[in-house]
Amino acid sequence: MNDIQAVLERCGIAASEYTGGTLRVASPVDGGEIARLHETALADMPAIIARSKAAFLAWRQVPAPVRGELVRLWGEELRAAKKDIGRVVSVEVGKIVEEGLGEVQEGVDICEYALGQSRQLFGKTIVSERPGHRIMEQYHPLGPIGVITAFNFPSAVFAWNAAIALVCGDPVIFKPSEKAPLSGLATFRALERAIERFGDKAPAGLAQIVIGPGALGEALVDSPDIALVSATGSTRMGRAVGPKVAARFGRRILELGGNNGMIVAPSADLDMALRAILFGAVGTAGQRCTSLRRLIVHRSVKDRLIARVLAAYRNLPIGNPLSAGTLVGPLIDEAAFSMMQKSLVSAKGQGGKVLTGGERVLADQFPNAFYVSPALVEMPAQTDIVRHETFAPLLYVLGYDDFEAAIAVHNDVPQGLSSCIFSNDMREVELFLSTAGSDCGMANVNIGPSGAEIGGAFGGEKETGGDRESGSDSWKQYMRRTTNTINFSRELPLAQGIVFDDPTPR
Ligand code: UN1
Repeated sequence: MNDIQAVLERCGIAASEYTGGTLRVASPVDGGEIARLHETALADMPAIIARSKAAFLAWRQVPAPVRGELVRLWGEELRAAKKDIGRVVSVEVGKIVEEGLGEVQEGVDICEYALGQSRQLFGKTIVSERPGHRIMEQYHPLGPIGVITAFNFPSAVFAWNAAIALVCGDPVIFKPSEKAPLSGLATFRALERAIERFGDKAPAGLAQIVIGPGALGEALVDSPDIALVSATGSTRMGRAVGPKVAARFGRRILELGGNNGMIVAPSADLDMALRAILFGAVGTAGQRCTSLRRLIVHRSVKDRLIARVLAAYRNLPIGNPLSAGTLVGPLIDEAAFSMMQKSLVSAKGQGGKVLTGGERVLADQFPNAFYVSPALVEMPAQTDIVRHETFAPLLYVLGYDDFEAAIAVHNDVPQGLSSCIFSNDMREVELFLSTAGSDCGMANVNIGPSGAEIGGAFGGEKETGGDRESGSDSWKQYMRRTTNTINFSRELPLAQGIVFDDPTPR
């Protein structure tokens, strides 16, 4: 960890930036301070937004495939800096090394995806009901985009949004989480290096970063000049952001809480299910929005599966995420630990039985950090606490007898992000994916709920926010659509056969 200053400097963050400021950044690995960053003044926000607005006028004129070249360069920079940025992510948010690297890889992947997308900003051509007419759609750049991200994916989620926004012709203003500004800054610096190499076709103010408290994000949310606000975080945050953006008729992408479930059917391959449960529930110390939180297991295989999960949980290497072999790192902070403890108390009060875990561990080695043993809690039913997202490694286990009842339980939570089924019965699998199946934005088969690839649309329903970002046709949200009707005849027929003649006497 004592190499962090050298790593930050290699990422383009100078000592003068990470020392002497007012924002204290601590590492969840040991609670030690790693930086004191300088914060953006709230009073500067109008000028920052104005710069973005000016940049838009220039950037929208650059042909999309040329804009694609910029994200190609960004992908190259991220590739070159993968180890260093991954290290910053691990030190700053406590991800194990593999996951820190994986996060930067998501950034590389989305840059390559966006490069291809830059040649595919397609609209449709539509046949007209009128002779000598043609209808077509075009997608034009939208305007400045505000990207507000959470601590748990401090690099990748910015890349998902910015890579697509940039090829769509939109400038970006990035507000990373106060808990993970260094990872955001390191990712942003890679983009700045790409902009530098790209040359002067990139206008000043094309990409900006603001560091500091929530009020900076609120300035983006409230500004009518920010065409789209893409915000990732808690449902509580979304409830504040959504109505404000709507009130000014702005666009928004909300990626909020999840309460992701797995149904394990009698025919499931339990070896595969076990691995998916482990990565899903304890990976990233349960701090992914896609983390596995509910295990709904058929009673005929429940004891067998739970015995295996318990054996694996008892052997989990919990510890310093920077050390080789660790699978479970720390929680982000004390507040996260307290939330987990509160949920465990509620779960017990609601009839839950803690099968293993839930305690603070390694407190003597790391008195200022919060490591926990992942908890497995058997519940008699889907009580209130199970319906609530606890952002920690806390997995509830429920049994089922009837498959359709299992789907009903699965869907009976306020969130709707990710979901999965382990089954080799094609009737169950197809039902799970059908209209009457999972109500989530993502529904997987024989694979866990977390660790989605960037090519699919990412997001969920209900309190998760209803929006999508990253792959598929998510790019359309970063553009405005125009429908064009072109008359190449010598007549002026009206649609719907309406007759409306010129009344001038001839
Ligand atoms: C998040 O937790 O906010 O699907 C994003 C996944 C990752 C992204 C998670 N690709 O788990």
